[in-house]
Amino acid sequence: MRVRVLGIGMGPRHVTAEVAEALRGCDYAVAARKREGDELLALRRAVCDAYGLPLVAVPDPERDRNDPADYPAAVAAWHEARVAAYERVLGERGGTAAFLVWGDPALYDSTLRIVARVAERGVVPVEYDVLPGISAPQLLAARHRIVLHGVGRPVHVTPARRLNEAVAAGQDNIVVMLGSGPVFEGLEEWSVWWGANLGTDTEELVAGRVGDVLPAIGAARARARERAGWVMDAALLRRNT
Ligand SMILES: C[S@@+](CC[C@H](N)C(=O)[O-])C[C@H]1O[C@@H](n2cnc3c(N)ncnc32)[C@H](O)[C@@H]1O
Repeated sequence: MRVRVLGIGMGPRHVTAEVAEALRGCDYAVAARKREGDELLALRRAVCDAYGLPLVAVPDPERDRNDPADYPAAVAAWHEARVAAYERVLGERGGTAAFLVWGDPALYDSTLRIVARVAERGVVPVEYDVLPGISAPQLLAARHRIVLHGVGRPVHVTPARRLNEAVAAGQDNIVVMLGSGPVFEGLEEWSVWWGANLGTDTEELVAGRVGDVLPAIGAARARARERAGWVMDAALLRRNT
């Protein structure tokens, strides 16, 4: 059987022609349900509806978040539980399955690791391929009409929990993802280009000197959460020279 790992950007408006064609050739789509009323699952469902594809929602196994010291082990156990859950669905249904990935599959998403593990275990024989989607940093840059880096300069991409480490290591142009609020302490003199719920009806954008715009970011974040029922944000932080 066949698995197609498809990046769907930030919802139906971002499905590329290539991904659309792949969706038309699939028998069903598979997506994780994080919790009851998972709003991102609803957006995936909208993509499926647009292509007449049934969506199989796989309840996401619980992840142990109590011991951050053993973060890799907790994530590994969670991945194995997800592998087993997907194997069950694929084994039961067969055919060609679309795995719908928010944004792009190459950026902070475990789907590819899970599918590779399913293929490696061989309990369910699968072949798989990957089609890219529009990622949050791409959309952030487009909305702010910026290039993510200076001419010929690097850009560092990091989860928010490793931002301090990146700054300490001398990174001065940083895309921050996976945060639970703008914690940019000590970076008041830096510039920020921030966005929440990008590509959706509840999108929010703020840019400026960190020290000046932090309250505006806090308010915009709260507004996005209130309107959508969820909030995801990303930011480019750049040290001013
Ligand atoms: C699990 S990662 C998934 C990233 C995704 N694969 C991509 O290509 O953008 C989730 C993080 O991506 C960022 N993100 C995803 N969707 C976003 C959106 N619509 N607006 C702003 N940030 C978003 C946030 O930093 C969020 O914490």
